[in-house]
Amino acid sequence: MDFKRYIADRIEAGDIGKDELYEMLALPPNTEMGDFALPCFRLAKAMRKSPAVIAQDIANAYARDSIVSEVSAVNGYVNFKINRAFWAKQTLDRICAEKDRYGSSSDGAGKRVCIDYSSVNIAKPFHIGHLSTTVLGSSLYKLHKFLGYEPIGINHLGDYGTQFGKLISAYKRWGTREGIEQGGLRALNELYVRFHAEAEKDPTLNDEARAFFKKIEDKDEESVALFNWFKELTLKEVGKVYEMLDVHFDSWAGESFYNDKMEPIVEMLRAKGLLKESDGAQIVDLEEYGMPPCIILRSDGASLYATRDIAAAFYRKKTYDFYKCLYVVAYQQNLHFKQFFKVIELMGELWAKDLVHVAYGMVSLEDGAMSTRKGKVVYLEDVLQKCIEKALAIITEKNPALENKEQIAKTVGVGAVIFGALYNNKIKDITFSYDKVLNFDGETSCYVQYTCARANSVLEKGGRASAYEVKDVCPQEFEVIKQLADFPSVLKDALEKYEPCFIARYAVDLAQKFNKFYFDCSILNAEEATRAFRLTLTEATLITLKNALGLLGIGVPEKM
Ligand code: ARG
Repeated sequence: MDFKRYIADRIEAGDIGKDELYEMLALPPNTEMGDFALPCFRLAKAMRKSPAVIAQDIANAYARDSIVSEVSAVNGYVNFKINRAFWAKQTLDRICAEKDRYGSSSDGAGKRVCIDYSSVNIAKPFHIGHLSTTVLGSSLYKLHKFLGYEPIGINHLGDYGTQFGKLISAYKRWGTREGIEQGGLRALNELYVRFHAEAEKDPTLNDEARAFFKKIEDKDEESVALFNWFKELTLKEVGKVYEMLDVHFDSWAGESFYNDKMEPIVEMLRAKGLLKESDGAQIVDLEEYGMPPCIILRSDGASLYATRDIAAAFYRKKTYDFYKCLYVVAYQQNLHFKQFFKVIELMGELWAKDLVHVAYGMVSLEDGAMSTRKGKVVYLEDVLQKCIEKALAIITEKNPALENKEQIAKTVGVGAVIFGALYNNKIKDITFSYDKVLNFDGETSCYVQYTCARANSVLEKGGRASAYEVKDVCPQEFEVIKQLADFPSVLKDALEKYEPCFIARYAVDLAQKFNKFYFDCSILNAEEATRAFRLTLTEATLITLKNALGLLGIGVPEKM
């Protein structure tokens, strides 16, 4: 039940509309005053009365009932108190009925949303820098689905470009089939690094690489076979990490998929008079919009990253008829997205406004940055493994007798990495720290998971209450109830702003409030009626925490 709506609909305030009143209703700074407050200052002009008088009039006219029983005017605010027992019963009944669907909605019914995320590069390491796009994108995917949208997850593979010529050249010079088969992506990366080192001494290597790339484009059998082999290797290794992170895609159409889809786009640009020649290249001039030109074709006729993205956007619109198309890509590419969105807008496509760059900040490790070219790389798989090992050590120390420790450590370790990447506003740069993400008392997923295990154990001992009454609601209980009731609106907000961190923060808040309740109020030893109510509160908390973590891609062990 939306109490804000309930109150707004019953307020009498002259000509002021119900929706406007709804928007104005706020949470008072302390709960002693009320559960909702209407500040009347903004109404003074329209109603030609002082805020204090308006507040008093509204309070006098409000028809109190069993749901909103106390209404008072204080210093230009009207404070409303909701019948707490009613609120508690409503909330808990709903959660226990909806269970793993609690918080879901059909808001997005009939709306398709393309989400371009993770988008790895073939034959390049899958490193810590890919963590955010992968887990942010995956969480947005789950969230859209939960709120009734039809998400389409797209891995826009980086499977096109001169680097593949370099790789073939390096492989033919210094690589062996066995070496690559054993060493996988890391061995490929070593070849790539070696190529750059040697090409500094002998620049003719670059010509050789260009020739090999041309061979791929001309469908030379050997070169294409090598390229496909590199691609296969990459997808196999990356697939392992996706499996650990529970990340999925509906489409793997990468850059090379658009090879034959760019020409019509270039023709359209030309027909609309948007193309200009500049030093032999074909560009769209964006000076008027304060941006450097968007290069469409290089002077040798080759297409670029932006050309492929424009073709991809058209293809997605045609194939999926999306409501929105999101690109979860680091802020370093801000200009790229602004440019090609603008080009599509200039082409007269109204859907250009539905393209959204969901930009995020950098992740680095405590011990400094990395560079693919120089070979200093932190593999995502290694970070996950290390976190799992550390989690196992902590769990073993805390609870040596625990069964199934390996499996639990995996859920905890992987969860810690994901949560670490999702806890802050996405645009912030973050420094990843193993100790921080695995701090069981911190603002972490293991803290939330531990709280779930605690709730589970209470329920195991006390049994799930089949029926319960609510008589009084103490402040600790009420804090939990309010937080629980807030979940659906937090999800809406997270979707609207593309911020899974709202869900992560919500989960920590709820866990903290539940733990305060758990330590202050006795559950199992309370008298019968209170006990049943508190057990139900515990169950509702567990359901909601699980749903919240699930939307981030994090599992919840029964025991820890
Ligand atoms: N592969 C690119 C990179 O690693 C990211 C691709 C993002 N998606 C897109 N449609 N441009 O930088």
